[in-house]
Amino acid sequence: MASPPAFSVPSLRLPRVMGHRGALALAPENTLASIGAAAAAGVTWVEFDVMLTGDRQPVLMHDKTLKRTTGMPGAMAETPLSAISGLDASAGFARKRGAGAAAAFRGRDDCRVPTLEETVACLLALDLTPNVEIKPTPGLAEETAAVALERLLPLWPEDRLPPLISAFEWDALTVAREMAPLWPRGLLSHKFPKDWQAAMTRYDCASLHVNWRHLGTAKVQAVKAAGYAVASYTVNQLTVARRLVKMGVDCLITDRPDRLLAGLAD
Ligand code: G3P
Ligand code: MG
Repeated sequence: MASPPAFSVPSLRLPRVMGHRGALALAPENTLASIGAAAAAGVTWVEFDVMLTGDRQPVLMHDKTLKRTTGMPGAMAETPLSAISGLDASAGFARKRGAGAAAAFRGRDDCRVPTLEETVACLLALDLTPNVEIKPTPGLAEETAAVALERLLPLWPEDRLPPLISAFEWDALTVAREMAPLWPRGLLSHKFPKDWQAAMTRYDCASLHVNWRHLGTAKVQAVKAAGYAVASYTVNQLTVARRLVKMGVDCLITDRPDRLLAGLAD
């Protein structure tokens, strides 16, 4: 069995269930309403995506363009915060869930695209710990991480569990390690990375986050035996959730925290 690595950050205790983009299925993704819905469902942690606007301000956004979530044209990298922060992010929710489900959210202040600073205030008020996914537009991984950390560090109280910083673009994790060495980092990968051991060591990560379709018991157990936590996304079905828990996966990142919290409590 591999001996545990020497962490420069404390090993990480992730929750069994974490909200995805707040709680994507319950309210418009990456909004304060979505984070509130996750808290109301009972989670203590939420994941969300942080991207820079054209004038390099960090906001919650998953896509490189505004279209899917807000219905408005424009690329994130070319649109200033002043034109983004007033946008209603419930348009995508309406398309996916239907006008009826979206009616309760349309036009609400907590359904605007939130800044990272507004999000921190919301997290603290709701007593939530964040998994901050650095979501850069192409070429901006390091800058996105630097701006996000620069804003987060002075706002996040030292006496609370620190945010977990994750990214598919692993260079962002180097920036996170330099700027916030004691905050845990999560290595994000769609597939199970062949070089996971080297990468976890290189970026000094506490957790490995992989699409659930690419996990199996042997892989999960190998990562855990090396002393790391394992998270998987996006787990919305109880049958899948139970299978992953059986494999030893620590944390299920889900659009339906209500369903998983209720179902896994059995
Ligand atoms: O952090 C887990 C998950 O959010 C990664 O995928 O595309 O939903 O940001 P995505
Ligand atoms: Mg994400």
